[in-house]
Amino acid sequence: NANNSQNKTSKDQQLEQFTVDNDGKNLTTNQGLNVSEDEHSLKVGERGPTLMEDFHFREKMTHFDHERIPERIVHARGFGAHGYFELYESMKAYTKAKFLEDPSVVTPVFVRFSTVAGSRGSADTVRDVRGFATKFYTEEGNYDLVGNNMPVFFIQDAMKFPDFIHAVKPEPHNEIPQAQTAHDTLWDFVVNNTESAHMIMWAMSDRSLPRSFRMMEGFGVHTFRFVNEEGRAHFVKFHWKPVLGTHSLVWDETQKLAGKDPDFNRRDLWDAIESGNYPEFEFGVQMIPEEDEFSFDFDILDPTKIWPEEIIPVKIIGKMTLNRNTENFFAETEQIAFHPGHVVPGIDFTNDPLLQGRLFSYTDTQLSRLGGPNFHEIPINRPVAPVHNNQRDGMHRMTINKGPVSYHKNGIAGNTPRPVPPEQGGYEHYTEKVEGRKIRARSDSFKDHYSQAALFWNSMSEVEKQHIVSAFHFELGKVQRKEIRQQVVDMFANVDSDLATRISDGLGTIPPQTHGSASSESSPALSMMNTVKLPLT
Ligand code: HEM
Repeated sequence: NANNSQNKTSKDQQLEQFTVDNDGKNLTTNQGLNVSEDEHSLKVGERGPTLMEDFHFREKMTHFDHERIPERIVHARGFGAHGYFELYESMKAYTKAKFLEDPSVVTPVFVRFSTVAGSRGSADTVRDVRGFATKFYTEEGNYDLVGNNMPVFFIQDAMKFPDFIHAVKPEPHNEIPQAQTAHDTLWDFVVNNTESAHMIMWAMSDRSLPRSFRMMEGFGVHTFRFVNEEGRAHFVKFHWKPVLGTHSLVWDETQKLAGKDPDFNRRDLWDAIESGNYPEFEFGVQMIPEEDEFSFDFDILDPTKIWPEEIIPVKIIGKMTLNRNTENFFAETEQIAFHPGHVVPGIDFTNDPLLQGRLFSYTDTQLSRLGGPNFHEIPINRPVAPVHNNQRDGMHRMTINKGPVSYHKNGIAGNTPRPVPPEQGGYEHYTEKVEGRKIRARSDSFKDHYSQAALFWNSMSEVEKQHIVSAFHFELGKVQRKEIRQQVVDMFANVDSDLATRISDGLGTIPPQTHGSASSESSPALSMMNTVKLPLT
C-alpha cells in the first residue's frame, strides 16, 4: 500500500539520495573546510576594515547574493506536494501508456497548484484562474498534465498569449495592479478579443475563488490523443475531480483572508497533509473516436469550448492521493519544470493551435528560469526511468558520461545508446494525415464565441448569477476608461441581455438594446446543450 509512509515510491527513494541532513554536523565552507567562527568578518583590528582574504565571508555573502532565480513569467505563486496515482481499470483498449494499462502499477506524482497573474509573494485568495500541474514519474518517462481549474481558456491561438498576459499582468508604466484582474488593459483585451467570453464567465464566477486546493477540479483544457497498441486513436480530454467536492469561498471572505492570511490555500494543503488528511482527486477522461472529429457543432480542437459532459461523459479511471509535503520549497516546488510536451507512448497531441504553441514555450522559458539546458538533472525533475543519450556539457552539468564518444552512429565505442523501435516502447508520433496551404488564419469553426458562454450563464442558479454580476461590478468599477466599460456591457449582451443589463446597472453605462441570448440562435444540438446543467457548486 503506497499510502503507508514506510512504503516509499521510486521517486521518494531517488530524492532521498539528494537530501542532506545538517542536524548536529560540523559547519564547513563549500570546500568542506571546518569553520571556527561564523559571526564576524576578518578585520584589521577590532574596529578596522574587512580583509579581501576573508574567503569565508566572501563565499557566504556571494552565495546569499545569488539565492534568487527569476520567478515564473506566469503561475509564479504556487504550492506543491508529493503523492501517487492509482489506476482503477485498464485503459489498454484506448492507450498504450503503461501507467494507464495496468491497475497494479502505482505511479509517483508531484503536483503544483498556482495562481496565474500574481507575483511569487502575492495572496492566495485573489480572483484568478488556478494552475493544476501534475508530473507523473512513470516507468516510461515523465508525463506532465499541465492543467488549470477551469476547462477552457481565454484565447484560441498561442500567438496571442504574450498579448493576453501583458494585458492581465500589472501595467508596465507603474506595475499596478498587483495580482488583480480589475484594470483597463485586461478588459480592453477582452472586448477586442471576444473569444475570451466563455472563459471570462468562468473567471467571474466563484470558480476563481477556490476554498481549498483540495476542493478544486482540474482540466487538461486541450484535446489530446490516446493511441493504443494497434495505432487506433481517440481524442481525449483530461479531468481531475476532487473527492471532497468542488467548493468556493465568497468574495467577502477572499478579501478578508488576503489581508489576514495570504497563505490561506497553501497552509490548508500543508496542514491537511501533515495531519494525514490526504487530498484525493479522481482522474477522468472524455473520449471521442478519431472518426467522430466532425460530429459536433463546435470544433473539438477549440480550447474555448467544453465537451458537454451529458453528451460525452467523463469516465473515471483512477485516483491521485497527495500524501507528502516537500522537504524544501525551493528545491522541489520552485525548481520543478512542467511541460505539456512531456508525453509517454500512448499519449499524443492534436492540432489545437493553443496547445501547439505551448509545446514551444515551456522549455524555452525554463532555459532562462533554471539556468541553462541541464535542468532535467535537478532532483525534482529527474525521471525515475533511466536517461541515456549523447547530450553533453552546458551550464551546471551534473552527469559524468564516460568515454570519448558522444554521437549517434559511431564506429568507435559500439555500444552508445540505441533508438528503441516502437514495438519495444520507443515513442512514435501518431501518423496523422495533414495537408493544406501555409496561411496565418483561423478556421471558421472557431468563430462562435458566445454559445457556450450563454450555456454557462444559463446553467447558473440565481445566487451564482448574482455573484457573477457582483464580480463584473467590482472589476469594471476599477476600469477607468468609460468606453471600455460600455464595450464590456455591449459584448456581454451577446451572451445574455439580462446579464448585460445587470452588469450595466450602476456603472454609468447604457444598458443593451438587444434582447435574447446567443443560445436562442443556436442549432438543435446547441439548444440541447443549453438545457445541460454544468456541474457547478
Ligand atoms: C506555466 C506558457 C497556456 C497552465 C507557464 C509558463 C509559461 C507558460 C511560459 C511558466 C513555466 C515555467 O516557468 O516553468 C503558456 C503559453 C500558453 C499557456 C504560451 C498558451 C499559448 C496555458 C494553459 C494552461 C496552462 C491553456 C492550462 C491548461 C499552466 C500551468 C503553469 C503554467 C499550470 C504552472 C506550472 C507550474 O506549476 O510550474 N505557462 N501557457 N497554461 N501554465 Fe501555461
